[in-house]
Amino acid sequence: MTVRTRVTIIGAGPAGLLLAHLLDRQGIESVVIDSRTREEIETTIRAGILEQGTVEVLSQTGASDRVLTVGQRHEGIDLAFAGEHHRIDFAATTGRAVWLYPQHEALKDLIAARLAAGQDIRFGVRAERVEDPDSDRPRVVATDGDGAPLEIEADWVVGADGSRSVARASISGRHSGAFREYPFAWFGILCEAPPSAEELIYSNSQQGFALISQRSPEVQRMYFQCDPDADPNAMSEAELWDTLQARVPGTTLNQGRIFQRDVLRFRSFVASDLRRGRVVLVGDAAHTVPPTGAKGMNLAVADVVLLADALRAALAGDDAPIDAFPERAQQRIWKAQHFSWWMTSMLHLQPGASDFDRQRQLGELRTVVESEAGRTYLAEAYTGWPLAGVERVLG
Ligand code: PHB
Repeated sequence: MTVRTRVTIIGAGPAGLLLAHLLDRQGIESVVIDSRTREEIETTIRAGILEQGTVEVLSQTGASDRVLTVGQRHEGIDLAFAGEHHRIDFAATTGRAVWLYPQHEALKDLIAARLAAGQDIRFGVRAERVEDPDSDRPRVVATDGDGAPLEIEADWVVGADGSRSVARASISGRHSGAFREYPFAWFGILCEAPPSAEELIYSNSQQGFALISQRSPEVQRMYFQCDPDADPNAMSEAELWDTLQARVPGTTLNQGRIFQRDVLRFRSFVASDLRRGRVVLVGDAAHTVPPTGAKGMNLAVADVVLLADALRAALAGDDAPIDAFPERAQQRIWKAQHFSWWMTSMLHLQPGASDFDRQRQLGELRTVVESEAGRTYLAEAYTGWPLAGVERVLG
């Protein structure tokens, strides 16, 4: 079967769904496909820090009201090292904030809004490849849930299909881009206990990094630095609590039943080409960042804000914004890459670190927390740089 539309969006994650929503507000029809079921998408646990600009886009375009009611505003974070706690006050340094709102909650809102608007979202449809990217009718060749072939022909195709992007493989090769590996991973747990502190704690300790985060008034999310090959089931609950507690001296962790554990490997990646002809990449298909800076979903939103406006112009006959898209998007992507790499390097214990390396790292942390400029730099990056093109998307 062949379907025709203006924009085919591969991937019903935050990038794909938000793009469909913003295009619809401009009267542009799209079809979204995703190989996962709606339930899988709505229950996959991901990070939950939204920059102020992300929250403004979600709330002011009608994509999510719950972000403001269920989400929690955080006006700072706690940077812990050498047994001391230092608050980075976002409100005092930048007048901005972030919101703790789990990604799957944002996805539920976006899916509900799209379906209520009668949008064509097809779950369980797997994109196999993108054909004719250089023509003016690129096609997505897909297979539906029953194994039947489906082709979608459009003016534009957007690959919002995550780090294993089929769209990227079709336009520039699966692994084409700049990347960096890290010699550690995060061991993550979810537990039934109220938050241990009001704000998130990012801790550099002798034993390695730990992050004390939250999901809701009843559930906490915590991570500690581990070996990338660690087995998530090898440690007992008591050992997990000992490991976490030892890495946040000065704070008593609220303990509760651990109901999920996972090992998250991470890396930095930026695709070499964000566009080929009429195929464009956004979100994790275009870049991956380590989670320490909480930039993943926010960067996807920034791509999409820029792209929604560029596609509107292109469909009206003005190609200048879409021609400028890769370079404009890359500028923010590399700023976020740098910030995520910096936070990661500053806070984690490098395997084999010498005494010099360790003392230098503490010197770096002290440079940041003892300087207003240092705290402001961190706060600006964490709460998010201004979003290019946002006024046209909100207007
Ligand atoms: C999370 O709550 O999962 C989380 C928060 C902040 C990060 C990364 C993950 O930097």
